[in-house]
Amino acid sequence: MPVAIAFPDYGPPEVLEPIQIAEPQAGAGEVRVRVRAAGVAPFDCRLRRGEFARARPQDPPHRLGNEFAGVVDQAGDDVDGLAPGAEVLGFTVAAAYAEVITVPASQVALKPAGLPWPVAAALPVAGQGAWSVVRQLDLGDGDTFLVHAAAGGIGTFAVQLARQRGARVIGTASPANHDYLRSLGAIPVSYGPGEQDRVRAVSPGGITAALDAIGGDAVPVSLRLGAPADRVVCLVGQEAAVAAYGIRPLAGERSAKLLALLAELAAQGDLTVPVTEFSLLDCAAAHRRVESGHGRGKTVLVIAH
Ligand SMILES: NC(=O)c1ccc[n+]([C@@H]2O[C@H](COP(=O)([O-])OP(=O)(O)OC[C@H]3O[C@@H](n4cnc5c(N)ncnc54)[C@H](OP(=O)(O)O)[C@@H]3O)[C@@H](O)[C@H]2O)c1
Repeated sequence: MPVAIAFPDYGPPEVLEPIQIAEPQAGAGEVRVRVRAAGVAPFDCRLRRGEFARARPQDPPHRLGNEFAGVVDQAGDDVDGLAPGAEVLGFTVAAAYAEVITVPASQVALKPAGLPWPVAAALPVAGQGAWSVVRQLDLGDGDTFLVHAAAGGIGTFAVQLARQRGARVIGTASPANHDYLRSLGAIPVSYGPGEQDRVRAVSPGGITAALDAIGGDAVPVSLRLGAPADRVVCLVGQEAAVAAYGIRPLAGERSAKLLALLAELAAQGDLTVPVTEFSLLDCAAAHRRVESGHGRGKTVLVIAH
Protein backbone atom coordinates (compact mmCIF):
# COMPACT_ATOMS: atom_id res chain seq x y z
CA MET A 1 0.00 0.00 0.00
CA PRO A 2 1.20 3.56 -0.62
CA VAL A 3 2.65 5.60 2.21
CA ALA A 4 1.55 9.05 3.36
CA ILE A 5 2.72 11.19 6.26
CA ALA A 6 0.11 11.90 8.91
CA PHE A 7 -0.21 12.75 12.56
CA PRO A 8 -2.67 11.31 15.08
CA ASP A 9 -2.74 14.44 17.24
CA TYR A 10 -1.36 17.97 17.18
CA GLY A 11 2.14 18.55 18.49
CA PRO A 12 5.84 18.94 17.70
CA PRO A 13 7.46 17.63 14.47
CA GLU A 14 7.88 14.21 16.10
CA VAL A 15 4.12 13.55 15.81
CA LEU A 16 4.60 13.09 12.07
CA GLU A 17 4.59 9.44 11.10
CA PRO A 18 4.18 7.29 7.99
CA ILE A 19 0.84 5.57 7.52
CA GLN A 20 -0.40 3.24 4.81
CA ILE A 21 -3.25 4.55 2.67
CA ALA A 22 -5.60 2.88 0.23
CA GLU A 23 -4.67 3.40 -3.41
CA PRO A 24 -6.79 6.45 -4.37
CA GLN A 25 -8.77 6.40 -7.62
CA ALA A 26 -9.14 9.44 -9.88
CA GLY A 27 -12.77 10.57 -10.05
CA ALA A 28 -14.32 12.62 -12.83
CA GLY A 29 -12.23 15.69 -13.54
CA GLU A 30 -9.33 14.38 -11.44
CA VAL A 31 -5.89 12.93 -12.04
CA ARG A 32 -3.90 10.54 -9.86
CA VAL A 33 -0.30 11.63 -9.37
CA ARG A 34 2.72 9.63 -8.18
CA VAL A 35 4.34 12.36 -6.12
CA ARG A 36 8.08 12.91 -6.68
CA ALA A 37 8.46 15.99 -4.48
CA ALA A 38 6.25 17.96 -2.05
CA GLY A 39 6.90 21.46 -0.74
CA VAL A 40 6.91 22.19 3.00
CA ALA A 41 5.55 25.57 4.11
CA PRO A 42 5.21 27.40 7.45
CA PHE A 43 1.44 26.87 7.09
CA ASP A 44 1.98 23.08 7.35
CA CYS A 45 3.77 23.53 10.67
CA ARG A 46 0.93 25.67 11.97
CA LEU A 47 -1.58 22.99 10.98
CA ARG A 48 0.54 20.34 12.71
CA ARG A 49 0.73 22.46 15.87
CA GLY A 50 -3.07 22.66 15.92
CA GLU A 51 -3.40 26.40 15.29
CA PHE A 52 -6.44 25.81 13.08
CA ALA A 53 -7.93 22.97 15.13
CA ARG A 54 -10.86 25.05 16.32
CA ALA A 55 -11.57 26.84 13.05
CA ARG A 56 -11.26 23.69 10.92
CA PRO A 57 -11.95 20.68 13.12
CA GLN A 58 -10.96 17.40 11.45
CA ASP A 59 -10.87 13.76 12.41
CA PRO A 60 -7.40 12.21 12.68
CA PRO A 61 -5.20 11.04 11.12
CA HIS A 62 -4.38 14.54 9.85
CA ARG A 63 -2.55 14.89 6.55
CA LEU A 64 -0.33 17.70 5.28
CA GLY A 65 1.08 19.20 2.09
CA ASN A 66 -0.37 21.82 -0.27
CA GLU A 67 2.07 21.59 -3.21
CA PHE A 68 3.70 18.83 -5.23
CA ALA A 69 5.28 17.67 -8.46
CA GLY A 70 4.96 14.18 -9.90
CA VAL A 71 3.79 11.89 -12.67
CA VAL A 72 0.15 11.36 -13.66
CA ASP A 73 -0.68 7.64 -13.73
CA GLN A 74 -4.47 7.77 -14.01
CA ALA A 75 -6.88 10.31 -15.49
CA GLY A 76 -10.59 10.35 -14.62
CA ASP A 77 -13.44 11.08 -17.01
CA ASP A 78 -13.58 14.59 -18.50
CA VAL A 79 -9.82 15.20 -18.20
CA ASP A 80 -8.12 16.62 -21.28
CA GLY A 81 -4.41 16.90 -21.97
CA LEU A 82 -3.17 15.03 -18.88
CA ALA A 83 -2.64 11.42 -19.91
CA PRO A 84 -0.75 8.86 -17.80
CA GLY A 85 2.94 9.67 -17.98
CA ALA A 86 2.45 13.44 -17.95
CA GLU A 87 4.89 15.20 -15.61
CA VAL A 88 3.08 17.87 -13.59
CA LEU A 89 3.23 20.27 -10.69
CA GLY A 90 0.20 21.31 -8.71
CA PHE A 91 -1.56 22.42 -5.57
CA THR A 92 -3.94 20.68 -3.21
CA VAL A 93 -5.00 20.95 0.44
CA ALA A 94 -3.29 19.00 3.22
CA ALA A 95 -2.50 15.88 1.20
CA ALA A 96 0.74 16.14 -0.76
CA TYR A 97 3.12 14.50 1.73
CA ALA A 98 2.33 11.12 0.17
CA GLU A 99 3.53 8.70 -2.47
CA VAL A 100 0.27 9.11 -4.40
CA ILE A 101 -2.61 11.58 -4.40
CA THR A 102 -5.66 12.46 -6.48
CA VAL A 103 -6.31 16.08 -7.36
CA PRO A 104 -8.62 18.08 -9.64
CA ALA A 105 -7.02 18.40 -13.08
CA SER A 106 -7.67 22.14 -12.85
CA GLN A 107 -5.01 22.33 -10.11
CA VAL A 108 -2.10 20.92 -12.11
CA ALA A 109 0.06 22.16 -14.98
CA LEU A 110 2.55 20.33 -17.17
CA LYS A 111 6.10 20.47 -15.82
CA PRO A 112 8.70 21.60 -18.37
CA ALA A 113 11.05 18.67 -19.05
CA GLY A 114 14.20 20.33 -17.74
CA LEU A 115 12.72 21.56 -14.45
CA PRO A 116 13.93 19.44 -11.48
CA TRP A 117 11.21 17.83 -9.35
CA PRO A 118 12.12 19.64 -6.09
CA VAL A 119 12.12 23.05 -7.79
CA ALA A 120 8.76 22.32 -9.43
CA ALA A 121 7.31 21.35 -6.04
CA ALA A 122 8.64 24.60 -4.53
CA LEU A 123 6.63 26.81 -6.88
CA PRO A 124 2.89 26.36 -6.25
CA VAL A 125 2.40 27.94 -2.80
CA ALA A 126 5.13 30.57 -2.45
CA GLY A 127 5.40 31.21 -6.20
CA GLN A 128 1.70 31.82 -6.68
CA GLY A 129 1.56 33.80 -3.44
CA ALA A 130 4.42 36.06 -4.52
CA TRP A 131 2.91 36.48 -7.97
CA SER A 132 -0.38 37.56 -6.42
CA VAL A 133 1.40 40.12 -4.24
CA VAL A 134 3.38 41.64 -7.10
CA ARG A 135 0.30 41.76 -9.32
CA GLN A 136 -1.93 43.33 -6.64
CA LEU A 137 0.70 45.99 -5.88
CA ASP A 138 1.01 46.63 -9.62
CA LEU A 139 4.76 47.13 -9.26
CA GLY A 140 6.65 48.94 -11.98
CA ASP A 141 9.89 50.75 -12.67
CA GLY A 142 8.93 53.76 -10.55
CA ASP A 143 8.66 51.65 -7.42
CA THR A 144 10.92 51.03 -4.46
CA PHE A 145 9.56 47.81 -2.99
CA LEU A 146 10.51 46.65 0.52
CA VAL A 147 10.30 42.88 1.09
CA HIS A 148 10.41 41.83 4.74
CA ALA A 149 11.89 38.30 5.01
CA ALA A 150 13.21 38.45 1.47
CA ALA A 151 15.38 35.32 1.70
CA GLY A 152 12.51 32.95 2.56
CA GLY A 153 10.29 31.05 0.16
CA ILE A 154 7.83 33.82 -0.61
CA GLY A 155 10.48 36.55 -0.43
CA THR A 156 12.75 34.76 -2.90
CA PHE A 157 10.00 34.73 -5.52
CA ALA A 158 8.65 38.21 -4.71
CA VAL A 159 12.09 39.81 -5.12
CA GLN A 160 12.63 38.26 -8.55
CA LEU A 161 9.11 38.93 -9.87
CA ALA A 162 9.31 42.56 -8.72
CA ARG A 163 12.73 43.01 -10.34
CA GLN A 164 11.29 41.65 -13.60
CA ARG A 165 8.71 44.44 -13.50
CA GLY A 166 11.50 46.98 -13.12
CA ALA A 167 11.02 47.80 -9.44
CA ARG A 168 13.94 48.64 -7.18
CA VAL A 169 13.81 46.07 -4.39
CA ILE A 170 15.09 46.30 -0.81
CA GLY A 171 15.01 43.04 1.13
CA THR A 172 15.44 42.34 4.85
CA ALA A 173 17.46 39.32 5.98
CA SER A 174 20.24 38.38 8.38
CA PRO A 175 23.77 39.20 7.16
CA ALA A 176 24.27 35.54 6.22
CA ASN A 177 21.71 36.04 3.44
CA HIS A 178 22.86 39.41 2.12
CA ASP A 179 24.96 38.04 -0.73
CA TYR A 180 22.07 35.78 -1.62
CA LEU A 181 19.69 38.77 -1.81
CA ARG A 182 22.19 40.65 -3.96
CA SER A 183 22.29 37.66 -6.31
CA LEU A 184 18.51 37.99 -6.72
CA GLY A 185 18.82 41.69 -7.51
CA ALA A 186 17.76 43.13 -4.14
CA ILE A 187 19.51 45.63 -1.86
CA PRO A 188 19.94 43.78 1.45
CA VAL A 189 19.18 45.36 4.82
CA SER A 190 19.47 43.64 8.21
CA TYR A 191 16.29 43.27 10.23
CA GLY A 192 16.04 44.05 13.95
CA PRO A 193 16.35 47.32 15.92
CA GLY A 194 17.23 50.22 13.63
CA GLU A 195 15.84 48.52 10.50
CA GLN A 196 13.81 51.57 9.51
CA ASP A 197 16.91 53.81 9.60
CA ARG A 198 18.90 51.27 7.60
CA VAL A 199 16.23 51.24 4.89
CA ARG A 200 16.27 55.07 4.87
CA ALA A 201 20.04 54.97 4.48
CA VAL A 202 19.79 53.00 1.22
CA SER A 203 16.61 54.77 0.11
CA PRO A 204 16.42 58.36 1.42
CA GLY A 205 13.17 58.87 -0.52
CA GLY A 206 11.53 55.97 1.34
CA ILE A 207 9.53 53.20 -0.30
CA THR A 208 6.41 53.00 -2.46
CA ALA A 209 5.23 49.46 -1.66
CA ALA A 210 5.95 46.63 0.78
CA LEU A 211 5.43 42.96 1.48
CA ASP A 212 5.36 41.77 5.08
CA ALA A 213 6.25 38.06 5.13
CA ILE A 214 7.36 38.01 8.77
CA GLY A 215 4.92 39.90 11.03
CA GLY A 216 5.95 41.98 14.04
CA ASP A 217 6.50 45.64 13.17
CA ALA A 218 6.89 45.11 9.43
CA VAL A 219 3.61 46.81 8.48
CA PRO A 220 3.99 49.96 10.65
CA VAL A 221 7.65 50.27 9.62
CA SER A 222 6.59 50.07 5.95
CA LEU A 223 3.94 52.76 6.45
CA ARG A 224 6.41 55.04 8.24
CA LEU A 225 8.80 54.59 5.32
CA GLY A 226 6.15 56.07 3.04
CA ALA A 227 4.32 53.12 1.49
CA PRO A 228 0.61 53.99 1.08
CA ALA A 229 -1.68 51.64 3.04
CA ASP A 230 -3.17 50.20 -0.13
CA ARG A 231 0.31 49.23 -1.32
CA VAL A 232 1.28 47.15 1.69
CA VAL A 233 0.50 43.43 1.74
CA CYS A 234 0.77 41.40 4.94
CA LEU A 235 0.97 37.60 4.88
CA VAL A 236 1.43 37.02 8.61
CA GLY A 237 -1.52 38.02 10.78
CA GLN A 238 -3.19 39.64 7.78
CA GLU A 239 -6.63 40.05 9.34
CA ALA A 240 -5.32 42.01 12.33
CA ALA A 241 -3.08 44.16 10.12
CA VAL A 242 -5.98 44.97 7.78
CA ALA A 243 -8.10 46.04 10.77
CA ALA A 244 -5.31 47.99 12.50
CA TYR A 245 -3.72 49.77 9.53
CA GLY A 246 -6.32 49.78 6.74
CA ILE A 247 -4.09 47.83 4.35
CA ARG A 248 -5.68 45.76 1.56
CA PRO A 249 -6.09 42.01 2.05
CA LEU A 250 -4.29 39.91 -0.55
CA ALA A 251 -6.45 38.58 -3.37
CA GLY A 252 -4.52 35.38 -3.94
CA GLU A 253 -4.59 33.72 -7.35
CA ARG A 254 -4.05 30.00 -7.79
CA SER A 255 -4.63 28.39 -11.17
CA ALA A 256 -3.15 25.89 -13.59
CA LYS A 257 -2.46 28.76 -15.98
CA LEU A 258 -0.43 30.69 -13.40
CA LEU A 259 1.44 27.52 -12.40
CA ALA A 260 2.38 26.89 -16.03
CA LEU A 261 3.69 30.44 -16.35
CA LEU A 262 5.81 30.15 -13.18
CA ALA A 263 7.13 26.75 -14.25
CA GLU A 264 8.14 28.16 -17.62
CA LEU A 265 9.95 31.09 -15.97
CA ALA A 266 11.78 28.63 -13.71
CA ALA A 267 12.68 26.32 -16.60
CA GLN A 268 14.13 29.28 -18.50
CA GLY A 269 16.21 30.30 -15.47
CA ASP A 270 14.23 33.51 -14.96
CA LEU A 271 12.90 32.36 -11.57
CA THR A 272 15.26 30.52 -9.24
CA VAL A 273 14.88 29.07 -5.77
CA PRO A 274 17.37 27.19 -3.63
CA VAL A 275 15.76 24.05 -2.20
CA THR A 276 16.82 22.04 0.84
CA GLU A 277 15.76 18.44 0.36
CA PHE A 278 14.62 15.83 2.88
CA SER A 279 13.22 12.37 2.24
CA LEU A 280 9.50 11.88 2.84
CA LEU A 281 10.22 9.76 5.92
CA ASP A 282 12.49 12.49 7.30
CA CYS A 283 9.70 15.07 7.25
CA ALA A 284 10.07 15.83 10.98
CA ALA A 285 13.54 17.21 10.21
CA ALA A 286 12.06 19.22 7.34
CA HIS A 287 9.51 20.72 9.72
CA ARG A 288 12.23 21.54 12.25
CA ARG A 289 14.11 23.42 9.52
CA VAL A 290 11.05 25.42 8.49
CA GLU A 291 10.15 26.13 12.12
CA SER A 292 13.63 27.49 12.77
CA GLY A 293 12.38 30.54 10.82
CA HIS A 294 15.77 30.96 9.12
CA GLY A 295 17.56 29.78 6.03
CA ARG A 296 16.86 30.55 2.40
CA GLY A 297 14.50 29.42 -0.31
CA LYS A 298 12.24 26.43 0.14
CA THR A 299 12.23 23.11 1.99
CA VAL A 300 11.06 20.14 -0.05
CA LEU A 301 10.34 16.45 0.60
CA VAL A 302 11.57 14.11 -2.14
CA ILE A 303 10.17 10.69 -2.89
CA ALA A 304 12.02 7.98 -4.80
CA HIS A 305 9.76 5.58 -6.74
N1 LIG B 1 -1.13 33.77 1.92
C1 LIG B 1 -0.29 33.20 1.09
O1 LIG B 1 -0.55 33.00 -0.10
C2 LIG B 1 1.05 32.81 1.60
C3 LIG B 1 1.88 32.13 0.73
C4 LIG B 1 3.13 31.80 1.20
C5 LIG B 1 3.52 32.15 2.49
N2 LIG B 1 2.65 32.79 3.32
C6 LIG B 1 3.09 33.14 4.69
O2 LIG B 1 4.18 34.05 4.58
C7 LIG B 1 5.11 33.81 5.63
C8 LIG B 1 6.49 33.58 5.04
O3 LIG B 1 6.50 32.35 4.33
P1 LIG B 1 7.83 31.78 3.75
O4 LIG B 1 7.49 30.49 3.09
O5 LIG B 1 8.56 32.80 3.00
O6 LIG B 1 8.63 31.50 5.13
P2 LIG B 1 10.11 30.98 5.31
O7 LIG B 1 10.72 30.60 4.02
O8 LIG B 1 10.09 29.95 6.40
O9 LIG B 1 10.86 32.28 5.89
C9 LIG B 1 12.13 32.13 6.40
C10 LIG B 1 12.88 33.46 6.23
O10 LIG B 1 12.46 34.41 7.22
C11 LIG B 1 13.57 35.25 7.48
N3 LIG B 1 13.42 35.93 8.75
C12 LIG B 1 13.39 35.39 9.99
N4 LIG B 1 13.19 36.35 10.91
C13 LIG B 1 13.10 37.54 10.23
C14 LIG B 1 12.87 38.90 10.61
N5 LIG B 1 12.69 39.25 11.89
N6 LIG B 1 12.81 39.83 9.64
C15 LIG B 1 12.99 39.51 8.34
N7 LIG B 1 13.21 38.23 7.91
C16 LIG B 1 13.26 37.27 8.85
C17 LIG B 1 14.74 34.33 7.45
O11 LIG B 1 15.89 35.08 7.09
P3 LIG B 1 17.28 34.78 7.84
O12 LIG B 1 17.56 33.30 7.64
O13 LIG B 1 18.25 35.65 7.14
O14 LIG B 1 17.05 35.11 9.29
C18 LIG B 1 14.37 33.30 6.37
O15 LIG B 1 14.98 33.55 5.14
C19 LIG B 1 4.59 32.61 6.42
O16 LIG B 1 3.91 33.08 7.56
C20 LIG B 1 3.63 31.96 5.46
O17 LIG B 1 2.62 31.22 6.12
C21 LIG B 1 1.43 33.12 2.91
